[in-house]
Amino acid sequence: MTTLAGKRILVTGAGSGIGRAAARRFHELGAEVILAGRRLEPLQETLPGAVCIALDHAADEAVAAFARTCPALDGLFLAAGELVPGSVETTSAADFDRMVSANLKGPWLICHHLSNCLTTGASVVLVGSNIGIRAIPDSAAYSVAKAGVHMLAKVLALEWAPRQVRCNAIAPGPVHTPMVDVRLAASADPDGDLAKLASVNPLHRLGTVEEVAALAVHLLSDESRWTTGTVIPLDGGAMAVFG
Ligand SMILES: NC(=O)c1ccc[n+]([C@@H]2O[C@H](COP(=O)([O-])OP(=O)(O)OC[C@H]3O[C@@H](n4cnc5c(N)ncnc54)[C@H](OP(=O)(O)O)[C@@H]3O)[C@@H](O)[C@H]2O)c1
Repeated sequence: MTTLAGKRILVTGAGSGIGRAAARRFHELGAEVILAGRRLEPLQETLPGAVCIALDHAADEAVAAFARTCPALDGLFLAAGELVPGSVETTSAADFDRMVSANLKGPWLICHHLSNCLTTGASVVLVGSNIGIRAIPDSAAYSVAKAGVHMLAKVLALEWAPRQVRCNAIAPGPVHTPMVDVRLAASADPDGDLAKLASVNPLHRLGTVEEVAALAVHLLSDESRWTTGTVIPLDGGAMAVFG
């Protein structure tokens, strides 16, 4: 059976959705997890008793300060992110900056400052998005930032290879989490929008947080030790559809 026993793993975005499910699964499989997010309370609800750090991953000084006290790490699962919809034309400069900050600058800073905390053989998993690979019209700044996350995974894979540190990205399609619920709540036709999201992929459903966590477990475990520099779509087959 896959195990994460003996590994210390930092999880960002661990107070909700994909990050929360992943942190719980890593814990079940024997990892010591450190949970990060901006608000402490949801982190404490994820895993009572775990080490929880209130941290905005896009705040340079705060991440640098955390790195100075951070113990050695065998893995990072960087799930923190945010989505503000809009086209290039309708997205303000402030929202563009917010999307780049929340989705790209955050994981960049974590990797920049925590690089020296990573042990030989460590594994880093970034969470991108399948709309950072294929374009849709209404999430422009988010998609552009996620495309940057995919390239970040590849660049880090090269930079860290001499230390036997691996880096990969998961590119999920729509997964039912609070991020999706917030979007649906703002819609004039939530049921129709949910059905539309599910219809995009051949399996005709949204993904689950457990399915994303399962791939993260594989990438963080030693069973994937020859896998690095990849961006793996996890989207019910959407990537295979023509047009
Ligand atoms: N759900 C989907 O359909 C989907 C699809 C593709 C990719 N993704 C990606 O998967 C990841 C997890 O998304 P989710 O759906 O689980 O969303 P979610 O439930 O909204 O969780 C996002 C988490 O990120 C944290 N966060 C946001 N900004 C942060 C910041 N600046 N610093 C630190 N933490 C921050 C939030 O906690 P605080 O507010 O307490 O900081 C929250 O716990 C995101 O990167 C998202 O882009 C999601």
